[in-house]
Amino acid sequence: MAKVELKCTENGPILVMVDGKTTAALCRCGGSKNKPYCDGTHSKIGFKAEAKDIQVL
Ligand code: FES
Repeated sequence: MAKVELKCTENGPILVMVDGKTTAALCRCGGSKNKPYCDGTHSKIGFKAEAKDIQVL
């Protein structure tokens, strides 16, 4: 079974990692024009958030 991890990056997107490889970057700032994916807008609008790992069962 694949190991799936979600990593909230500091001031940036949520990285979806499968078996240690990043497979997607999801927007969590709300500003992306390509939702649900991050398009880099977070850095232009000054999005601030802590880094955090989310366990996937
Ligand atoms: S987190 Fe990158 S555009 Fe929203």
